[in-house]
Amino acid sequence: MKTTQPYQPLLLRILHGLTGLFLVAAILTAVWTYDTYDGRWGRIPLPIFKDIEGIHGTFGLWTLLIFPAFVVYAFHRGQRRLVQPNSIAQLARVGQPIWWYTLNRFTNTLALLALTFALFSGKMMDETWLPKGELQHGWYYAHLGSWVVMVAAIASHLLMNAKVGGTPLLLSMLTRKVRDRDSPKFWPEQVSQWRQNVRKGAWKTWFQPVSGLMILEIAILISIFIAWVLPVLNKAVESGLV
Ligand code: HEM
Ligand code: HEM
Repeated sequence: MKTTQPYQPLLLRILHGLTGLFLVAAILTAVWTYDTYDGRWGRIPLPIFKDIEGIHGTFGLWTLLIFPAFVVYAFHRGQRRLVQPNSIAQLARVGQPIWWYTLNRFTNTLALLALTFALFSGKMMDETWLPKGELQHGWYYAHLGSWVVMVAAIASHLLMNAKVGGTPLLLSMLTRKVRDRDSPKFWPEQVSQWRQNVRKGAWKTWFQPVSGLMILEIAILISIFIAWVLPVLNKAVESGLV
């Protein structure tokens, strides 16, 4: 029954895998950072480790670097696995298989939004706040909240994927098998084909018709751009350069 095994394109596995790996590392080091510097809502007795903040920031930054590529993939080649124009109507078909597929698409989309919020609020953090004991900043609370939202989003994402495809679907994201026609040796050819099409004017139809998903993709990418630029501008204003 090999043909019924779910298969994930290699590019998806790479982008999804790296995002997931760095994100899980950021989530775990976030707990340790909270444990070291805060602990107002309970503590796990982890050793005090002041450098964990910088390590967390590094994993957060790596997630932020790979995330835009994953977003572009998910909204284009992976579009069918995100919310669709008819998704709301399909939510009425409670309990039918399509209902679970629709919920799965919602949780996929939600995971992207949750991560945008976590990365954005992380970029608004100042690394000096926690060492100085400043735990009252609005962005710090937002960033703490983003952890809860992210963990809930991943948990629902995993549950929904387990529900619609069971262990074979979950494992299909982790396998190293590559089908012949999905091999990276075709990538240069596909990129040059794509560039040729763009040159021939394919770009004219890119934003037509404007869809809800397109607006969502642009909103996420703009948020990431602002997350990079805003701290730089703030620093420039603080040091009197602007
Ligand atoms: C889903 C969970 C989280 C993600 C994806 C995440 C991601 C990030 C990102 C992208 C940065 C910016 C890094 C930089 O610009 O260098 C950051 C900074 C930071 N985060 Fe998180 N974070 C998460 C949860 C938390 C939690 C729960 C805490 C609580 C202590 C926390 C504490 C910090 C601190 C103190 C910084 C500033 C440190 C620095 O910039 O080096 N994070 N985070
Ligand atoms: C940590 C372990 C994770 C596992 C085991 C996992 C598993 C999966 C699986 C099996 C699929 C394919 C679903 C299908 O074929 O319909 C998928 C898709 C997806 N996952 Fe995850 N996931 C994980 C983490 C994450 C995280 C952290 C995010 C957040 C950004 C995320 C976002 C997505 C998205 C957006 C898709 C749809 C991809 C596409 O457009 O083709 N996943 N995931």
